[in-house]
Amino acid sequence: MAWENARHADAEDPLADRRRAFALPEGVVYLDGNSLGALQPAVADAVRRTIDQEWGQGLIRSWNDADWVGLPARIAGRLAPLLGAHADEIAVADSTSTNLFKALAAARRLRPHRGVLLTDDANFPTDRYVAEGLADLLDDLEVRVVPATQVIEHLDTHVAVLTLTHVDYRTGARHDAAGITRAAHDVGALVVWDLSHSAGAVPVDLGAWDADLAVGCTYKYLNGGPGSPAYLYAARRLHDRLRSPIAGWFSHERPFAFADEHRPAPGAARFLNGTPPVLSMIALDAALGIFADVDLAELTDKAQALVARFHAGATTRLARWVQVVGPGPGAPRGAQVSLRHPQAGAVMSALIDRGVIGDHRPPDLLRFGFSPLYVSHADVEQALDVLEDVLTTGAWDRPEHRAPRAVV
Ligand SMILES: Cc1ncc(COP(=O)(O)O)c(C=O)c1O
Repeated sequence: MAWENARHADAEDPLADRRRAFALPEGVVYLDGNSLGALQPAVADAVRRTIDQEWGQGLIRSWNDADWVGLPARIAGRLAPLLGAHADEIAVADSTSTNLFKALAAARRLRPHRGVLLTDDANFPTDRYVAEGLADLLDDLEVRVVPATQVIEHLDTHVAVLTLTHVDYRTGARHDAAGITRAAHDVGALVVWDLSHSAGAVPVDLGAWDADLAVGCTYKYLNGGPGSPAYLYAARRLHDRLRSPIAGWFSHERPFAFADEHRPAPGAARFLNGTPPVLSMIALDAALGIFADVDLAELTDKAQALVARFHAGATTRLARWVQVVGPGPGAPRGAQVSLRHPQAGAVMSALIDRGVIGDHRPPDLLRFGFSPLYVSHADVEQALDVLEDVLTTGAWDRPEHRAPRAVV
């Protein structure tokens, strides 16, 4: 019955043909696009062409002839509709961690007399580390960490900046970004959102949220490739007042004037800093091409439908062995579901052995991501079948599945 229903849903799926753009290995159900998105052969072709022709033959001429120098702006143009932003509000550079540091420092400069950088206890570790690092540099700033469900209650006129990850990387719970942004503005604070688990998976509309600043990864649901460059969003209304703490030459309005004095580039480009990593940027640029004619409402609706199928299946079939974590049916969440099991690492290892790839987050979470461009409803049923078998038979309970790994 569930399989029949899944086949029907796949037949009706307006995005079903997008899966063909990806090179998924035969026999693999890939439910880890929330960590590393899958490869599109068109991306590999673009990188190969850049290496062979633009670098190999064009050499340094390609900065102009192949417009390498325009890559950050071109990619910003591709990301803008996915974020509900204008292209000049996006800088593509660095890692999410570095961009977060730049965004937090720039936001704090706008509220110099306020001493609190507020965040929640569900935030991703890098976000907390970066916030602490900034507070360490500034004598008059402290990081205050509050429960994720009580952020609004802790907003007051001492808060300079609030920083949150929109979708909780562990539970999948999704903050009300517009409501929280409004509450922060009501007390005069700025907000820096981390959209790493959001863009390409759930609705994001930075303009409608009246967002100030945001950052995010491109190697998850945006499929940019391992370690692909991240982005930083800065609202137009703040551009003239924002200053990046890393004023490298690529953030200059005319880098090749080699001027003595730094003059910030217009718009979010002031948050660039050094030479763009061309090969990674070429991969990201090509990877984003697929979104050009995707209906974003269809994309995010499909992600929620896949999540709902997995959530329902896990709740009804697997309750003897695992606890389904996070928001219940219909509540706002990201495109992922986590299940609690005391031996999550071993269970995930056994699943991966059988071709169902997710990941685990210590100490006890199995995490599954449902990237709507290439995951099908049949994939979800297949994953549930394999998971049920692994749990029923105890196939995970072997020494090889308990071996520690560097990356989990
Ligand atoms: C919410 C969130 N922010 C930031 C990062 C890390 O970003 P980066 O490695 O680009 O600094 C991750 C990585 O998974 C993440 O989940």
